[in-house]
Amino acid sequence: MKKTIEVYNKNIDKYVERYNYENYADIIVPILQTFSFFDASDPHKPRTVLEIGSGTGKMALIIANAKRKVIGHDASLKMVEFANLTIQRDNVKFEHKQYPLQNVEKNTYDAAYSIATLMHMSKKDIADTVVNVYKMLKENGVFIIMVPTKKEGLINNRDEDGRFFNIMNSDEWKLLCNRCGFFCIGETTSKDRLGRNVEWSTFFLMKQSL
Ligand SMILES: C[S@@+](CC[C@H](N)C(=O)[O-])C[C@H]1O[C@@H](n2cnc3c(N)ncnc32)[C@H](O)[C@@H]1O
Repeated sequence: MKKTIEVYNKNIDKYVERYNYENYADIIVPILQTFSFFDASDPHKPRTVLEIGSGTGKMALIIANAKRKVIGHDASLKMVEFANLTIQRDNVKFEHKQYPLQNVEKNTYDAAYSIATLMHMSKKDIADTVVNVYKMLKENGVFIIMVPTKKEGLINNRDEDGRFFNIMNSDEWKLLCNRCGFFCIGETTSKDRLGRNVEWSTFFLMKQSL
């Protein structure tokens, strides 16, 4: 994990350019629709959303524009500094945190999402992170994750930059999330926005009451 974070810290310019270039419509639209669906009972209530792996902050800004308070967590200090410098809004804040967390504040967020991040962790760390999110979400909270379920060109689970990738199929992701207390209410697949040989899956998860 340490090596992957170092890659992001060292290559911040490359990743800033990459994530600026990307078109986020395929993921942002279903995220906003899902949040709106769960807001239907009280659309004016302020909502607090957690992003894990907030990177340059681009997604958080879009969610914040939809009148949410967003807290973005990222393990790369360079990413967090960049996001806090370039996005200065009252309803967005970026913090340097590496998942899984040792301690979390329970019942804090209405919703959470994580785009292209969880696959950088070992299976145990993914499970611990999903449990972290379960605890931090309020009742009936939703958690949306986008991860690669197929990716070609890895050598010993690392790409050409040295980033670690844990590629699991759709059933493995759903089983893991289910064991951590989430029910999968929807799933979509999409092609890679940069044209790479990657299949992306997005899982829409709902916290189950115990
Ligand atoms: C591929 S980038 C995606 C950034 C952003 N979500 C996006 O879609 O533009 C992955 C991000 O996850 C962060 N990351 C990787 N492992 C992490 C961990 N264990 N905890 C928190 N952030 C992590 C990296 O620093 C990086 O910013």
